[in-house]
Amino acid sequence: MNQITLSHETDVDLWRAAVRPLLARRLPPESLSWRVGQEAPDLFSDMAEPPRGKTRLAVTHPIRITKQQMALCERVLCHTDPARFHHLYSVLQRLQMDPHALDDPGFHSGKWVRAADQSIRRDRHKMHAFVRFKKVGDRPSSEGAREVFAAWFEPDYRIVELTAAFFARRFTGMDWSILTPYGCSHWNGEILSFSPGVDKTHAPDADVLESAWTTYYSSIFNPSRVKISAMMSEMPKKYWKNLPEASVIPHLIQEAEHQKSGFMSAPETAPHKLARKITPDVYALRATPKHITSWDEAKQAAERCTSCALHQCATQTVFGEGPLNADLMLVGEQPGDREDLTGRVFTGPAGELLDKALIAAGLDRRNLYITNAVKHFNFAPRGKIRLHRTPTVDEIKSCKYWLDLERKFIRPRVILALGKTALRSLTGYSAALNSVRGQKISGLNGDIILATYHPSYLLRLPHGQARAEACRKFTADLSQAQSLADAPQMMK
Ligand code: URA
Repeated sequence: MNQITLSHETDVDLWRAAVRPLLARRLPPESLSWRVGQEAPDLFSDMAEPPRGKTRLAVTHPIRITKQQMALCERVLCHTDPARFHHLYSVLQRLQMDPHALDDPGFHSGKWVRAADQSIRRDRHKMHAFVRFKKVGDRPSSEGAREVFAAWFEPDYRIVELTAAFFARRFTGMDWSILTPYGCSHWNGEILSFSPGVDKTHAPDADVLESAWTTYYSSIFNPSRVKISAMMSEMPKKYWKNLPEASVIPHLIQEAEHQKSGFMSAPETAPHKLARKITPDVYALRATPKHITSWDEAKQAAERCTSCALHQCATQTVFGEGPLNADLMLVGEQPGDREDLTGRVFTGPAGELLDKALIAAGLDRRNLYITNAVKHFNFAPRGKIRLHRTPTVDEIKSCKYWLDLERKFIRPRVILALGKTALRSLTGYSAALNSVRGQKISGLNGDIILATYHPSYLLRLPHGQARAEACRKFTADLSQAQSLADAPQMMK
């Protein structure tokens, strides 16, 4: 057994110096034993055959470790599990033979390293978000007194060194120390330094800034944006004890709940002045027109549609747009607040997300025809706010007339329904989206209908893994739809 001794738990330099010659000699992971000691005078002190010396190196194998792989290793070294050295070495060894080893689901060490990396990234993210400095004094300096701050934080892993540069960049103008059980970092305006971990008795006490921060936090707390589950997943309770604002959060949430119930039961108010109908007197058309022979006629007629009550408060009809020979059509639910004011589909926050996903999927929005199942904004006025309301089945049915005309004149090969309302209008299905996602449904016109998430659903998901995964699926669905639309075809 060859023993390697590092001087401390996150001793990246010695670890890096150790693994290269070991890999070069193709030593198997099982033949190595890793140890962390106070002193590491000789890295390979207990090795039977030291991997140094000209003759040995001459017969060794070349080593390939990319920058990204090394960065991954440096992060994972901050894990607290002693097995990390073994797993990291096993991964690096496999990577020498197979550059895709980390993607192999059957490779235990690869799986372990990927999971550890995720946990460490999450821990870093939490540390960036939840470190709260307290003022502990002033320090005289040549440019006048510098304020000195300290913070106590309890990370899950040994990430103090990994996160220190972030705080030095963000809080350059003050002296600070971050104290944790795993190690401490210190900044004096010029130099970042590190010292061993301390226990909680070193945590700084409350100060005046803390009460100022709590007051500020309460004033920016927006009750209409409170999503308790999202908040709890972003700010898990274990961090609350070190956050000054945590003492006011339960009270603020209670207040928010109270305000929300008052909000929802309040009588409807008059629409916002910007939401007045643009053409209040041209709604002569009571029944849907029968003889429409082109897309232009359909668009003009839809502008005067009164076949359901939604036209009464919406600003204008928002008809679909895009090339009339598009092979791919996207169908959303209904215009939102912004679309109602601009008269153009997907121009608000959902549209921004859609645009990003289209770019990620390699699609050009200019080649797509984009429309909605319902053409008028459906909302409940609440003071200055117009709250989105899901269209009823009757409203969807009533507006289907226009969607059918768009399908008839555009004749897309593929239609991608964004969300349940669009799916319902296109197919009559009221199934859960996940049960139809990825399936090809044959439309009556010989077109193919696919379904994916609505961008607003993705926006509502809390930031994190679930959202990233749903966005990835959404992007994949967009590119699948485009590939089907691009597949070799008969003439239209
Ligand atoms: N949501 C939709 O479904 N359509 C739009 O145009 C905007 C938001």
